[in-house]
Amino acid sequence: MPKTTPYLVSLDIGTSKVCALIAETGSEGRVDVVGKGTASHKGTRKGAIIDVPATVEAIKRATEEAEIMAGVQIEQAVVGVSGPIVRSFNSRQVVAVAARSREISREDIGRALDAARSCPIPSDYEILAVLQRQFVVDGQDGVADPLGMVGSRLEADVHVVTVPVATTQNLLKCVNGAGVSVTEMILEPLAASEAVLTLDEKDHGVVLADIGGGTTEIAVWRQGALAHTAVIPIGGDLFTSDLAVLLKTPVPDAERLKRKFGAAIPGLVRGDETIDVPRTGGQGFHPVSRAYMAEILEARARELFEVLWREATTDVPARELRAGLVLTGGGSSLDGMADEAEQVLGIPVRIGSPRGLSGLTDIVNGPEWACAAGLLLVGRGRAAVPKSKLKDSGGLFSKLKNSLGRMFPPASGN
Ligand SMILES: Nc1ncnc2c1ncn2[C@@H]1O[C@H](COP(=O)(O)OP(=O)(O)OP(=O)(O)O)[C@@H](O)[C@H]1O
Ligand SMILES: [Mg+2]
Repeated sequence: MPKTTPYLVSLDIGTSKVCALIAETGSEGRVDVVGKGTASHKGTRKGAIIDVPATVEAIKRATEEAEIMAGVQIEQAVVGVSGPIVRSFNSRQVVAVAARSREISREDIGRALDAARSCPIPSDYEILAVLQRQFVVDGQDGVADPLGMVGSRLEADVHVVTVPVATTQNLLKCVNGAGVSVTEMILEPLAASEAVLTLDEKDHGVVLADIGGGTTEIAVWRQGALAHTAVIPIGGDLFTSDLAVLLKTPVPDAERLKRKFGAAIPGLVRGDETIDVPRTGGQGFHPVSRAYMAEILEARARELFEVLWREATTDVPARELRAGLVLTGGGSSLDGMADEAEQVLGIPVRIGSPRGLSGLTDIVNGPEWACAAGLLLVGRGRAAVPKSKLKDSGGLFSKLKNSLGRMFPPASGN
């Protein structure tokens, strides 16, 4: 019998910081947050690990803080994966229905899914997840569960997420190096979607954008199913460096000023208000109007929204995204981001904070917690896996492969 743990742990290893959450899973799928920890670090850049010891150190600090708060020791965790190197695409394959009666069986569904997921990928890439989107029976699309239907052609339509082997190995190395086993790796924009989006939004068509420090991760949902995922190399840190360069101020000061006085729309600030901005090199201060700061931030916000919307609507027409755009992640906390996006794109935009958790929710209700919270929600209900199997990467990947197709419910379940 595998040793099980009553606790669920998530690790979001972001560009700006590592977030760790510990939750107790209660009856009826409740996820009670009992501990949280964060540690800022410089071990990753734009979603990729560039310094293993620094990342290990940050994971240790974040998990220790969460452990102290929860009063338990972390053994294993669900871990988020992201970065521009993640490649995802839709794959569709057809199989003939085997039975003479032409009634679709579980075996037919299994064969169709196997065919759809066995698409060619580069040799240095692994499949991270295969998510069921829909089935097509004799040309009739939008079928969520074809079991028992009659037809001769069954097509499975899946979204395949692939990631370089080196990326997952490095992530595994860092988490294991901090003394934690990995039970599952989950694509971060999917996790954030789980925490932030409503079922209605997914049904009506929506884009989730998780604006982090180094990247913005997007997930496009159409008719209740995932249609597209992508990572855009623009995040909140570029807003900060724009301020640092144009206001000639050190980056830490630019970051502080952005959070305290920044806005993505000049109209939100008083035109005559000025702030004393420290000069680089410790050469005193100079006055800068808040309106000028907002103009700088607005230019970057505008670029981000245009790029992300172009990416989101490459395969899915904008008219099918009736619920618009939901912004989350720390970068969405900049004042006026939703208003600016509405103005630029002419669609409904809201800020999404994590929901669906209980317990200490007041301390993890900001948008920067969306991914860590979503990892808990996706990981909820999974069987615990013995620690001995999880330290070895071969074991992890065979588990990942075994879990393909059941990571997320089919479209009807969304
Ligand atoms: N109140 C705020 N106002 C403006 N920006 C903010 C605020 N709070 C956080 N940010 C920005 O959010 C970004 C960090 O967001 P988050 O914590 O979601 O990133 P991350 O997950 O570590 O990074 P990534 O997802 O890129 O790997 C930083 O650029 C930070 O400046
Ligand atoms: Mg993030």
